[in-house]
Amino acid sequence: MMDWTDRHCRFFHRLLSRRARLYTEMVTTGALLHGDVPRHLDFDSSEHPVALQLGGSEPADLAHCAKLGVEWGYDEINLNCGCPSERVQRGAFGACLMAEPALVADCVKAMVDAVSVPVTVKHRIGIDKVESYEFVRDFVGTVAAAGCGVFIVHARNAWLKGLSPKENREVPPLRHALVERLKREFPQLVICTNGGITSDEEVREQLELLDGVMIGREAYHHPWWLAHWDALYYGAGPSSLSRQEVEEAMVAYMEREHRERGTPWHSIARHMMGLYNGLPGARRWRQVWSDHRLKGEPPREVMRLAHEGQTLAAV
Ligand SMILES: Cc1cc2nc3c(=O)[nH]c(=O)nc-3n(C[C@H](O)[C@H](O)[C@H](O)COP(=O)(O)O)c2cc1C
Repeated sequence: MMDWTDRHCRFFHRLLSRRARLYTEMVTTGALLHGDVPRHLDFDSSEHPVALQLGGSEPADLAHCAKLGVEWGYDEINLNCGCPSERVQRGAFGACLMAEPALVADCVKAMVDAVSVPVTVKHRIGIDKVESYEFVRDFVGTVAAAGCGVFIVHARNAWLKGLSPKENREVPPLRHALVERLKREFPQLVICTNGGITSDEEVREQLELLDGVMIGREAYHHPWWLAHWDALYYGAGPSSLSRQEVEEAMVAYMEREHRERGTPWHSIARHMMGLYNGLPGARRWRQVWSDHRLKGEPPREVMRLAHEGQTLAAV
């Protein structure tokens, strides 16, 4: 998620779940071809399994960037066919690519030929007012024939005119039933659903029919949910870290990042504001960590202040 799931956020999420697959923000081919590649692609080795999401529509550029991603160590290359922003539309990629399945197939084929890790696609169920199942079925069929075996479906349309990206994550209705229908029609493909999933009950319901779920906003806002996933969905032991141990590990990470790269702690801390959500004292803890006047203090001192006089520390 743009501006959210940067490498600091992913480092944090990996402390909470050792198994969930993490995705980068969308990185455009333009940013990799003309920009600062290490800034966009560097990640911590603890983040595996981690997928690089690319935005673009030029097969040769995407193949080049996919290769770069694999050289950097990413475990999967994902193509964004779901972003509705105007900037992305001007670049003729993202969700508007759903109108051009043959071009997406060319892009996928070029990437599949260039790399040995899975090439996957994230897309919507339709664009604008196209409501028919056949539209998304034909898209998936065409792209699968080019070598994509994994589809992550944001189960709502993208309305390319008149809605902001935020509204495009809220206004077009969710239709998970269409994703289930895709799975029935393409049982050999890995089909994951996404959109509006906020509880274990909903996850379980989807996993009965589908191969996976992708969680966006709820995971970001209530990250402690991730601490249960290894045990619930991967047959692994429960998270071995308490909330406070996670916070301490983040402080150690902030210190390392500052030492090695000069990263200010607040650009890391902003991702963990939901860590204690739901517990008494969480609000004050969050206020301290986001207090601009403390930006000059070392993060260990900020952590001390955030816990001062309250029992959060024992939770
Ligand atoms: C701030 C923000 C940025 C996002 N950026 C991306 C992105 O870069 N690539 C992408 O495929 N989806 C992006 N999304 C969409 C999410 O991946 C997801 O499809 C959407 O939020 C619906 O899932 P959710 O209800 O679980 O959040 C973004 C969502 C948010 C809130």
